[in-house]
Amino acid sequence: MENIYLPDLAVIDRIVDETHDIKTFTLRFASRELRKNFRFKSGQFVEASIFGAGEAPFGFASNPNHPEHFDITVRAAGVVTRAMHALKPGDYMGIRGPLGNHFPLEEVKGQDILIIAGGIGLPPLKSLIDPMLDCRGDFGQFIILYGARTPADRVYKPLLQEWSERGDITLLQTVDTPDAAWSGPVGVVTTLFEKIKLAVDRTVAFTCGPPVMIRFVIQELLAMGFAEERIISTLERYMKCGVGKCGHCAIGHKYICVDGPVFSWRQIKRLPER
Ligand SMILES: Cc1cc2nc3c(=O)[nH]c(=O)nc-3n(C[C@H](O)[C@H](O)[C@H](O)COP(=O)(O)OP(=O)(O)OC[C@H]3O[C@@H](n4cnc5c(N)ncnc54)[C@H](O)[C@@H]3O)c2cc1C
Ligand code: FES
Repeated sequence: MENIYLPDLAVIDRIVDETHDIKTFTLRFASRELRKNFRFKSGQFVEASIFGAGEAPFGFASNPNHPEHFDITVRAAGVVTRAMHALKPGDYMGIRGPLGNHFPLEEVKGQDILIIAGGIGLPPLKSLIDPMLDCRGDFGQFIILYGARTPADRVYKPLLQEWSERGDITLLQTVDTPDAAWSGPVGVVTTLFEKIKLAVDRTVAFTCGPPVMIRFVIQELLAMGFAEERIISTLERYMKCGVGKCGHCAIGHKYICVDGPVFSWRQIKRLPER
């Protein structure tokens, strides 16, 4: 039975090296019987624990239409994440979740979609893009903008190649610092805005990335005329419990772990510190 306070054991089926410090882990619950009703939604997250190291939150990075396996994409940042990077296929993690709210996937059907991702902000948005592309005909124009520090720092390189070859979506990528093989745009992700044409009154923008990127993206979207409720972002805060008990993630009267991590700009601008 699902218990948001207690981790269940999940086994690592696959590990993909994305960049020099980012890996994707494909997990499944060790006891299918225990978690047979497990489902998650795009934008939700888990608390993943490593025995002897601790616990940390990670967004789902895979398609919620296939909950029998799920991915988390993890940058080695400190104690827990370095311990995760030392694991091998067949090893276990503790998983609590799914936690938090989710992207409004059903609500935006019929709209044009603009996705703006920076660095490791792409994984949570991939869990939104995947089910959207499963029913591509339910959406209008579909644009993905992705920015990374260098070409090598991009996650999901084979998938980016696949998206770039699809005729029914537009993928534009940019890097801060190119290498010899890079022939694409150079500059921060907002420089890609001048390369696209969209109708702001029928487009919903989803963004995830470093806080400084999100700030500039939202400024640009507002300047382009986007309504506040058509800008959807994730907020990241240092979390402990992930279930609205410890108060670590509070901003004013909102707990990012249960009221978020997904918010519209209309909601974010009302928060006391943003
Ligand atoms: C809802 C949510 C979803 C997330 N999804 C992902 C994901 O998909 N992939 C991913 O790689 N990371 C994700 N993170 C961030 C991830 O949780 C942290 O990198 C992780 O907690 C670091 O743990 P650690 O023990 O390895 O590092 P620590 O040893 O705890 O810290 C290393 C450094 O990172 C800082 N730090 C730790 N947590 C955060 C944080 N939340 N925000 C800013 N700085 C922090 C510490 O202050 C310290 O400087 C997410 C965070 C949240 C809140
Ligand atoms: S992390 Fe404990 S209340 Fe949000």
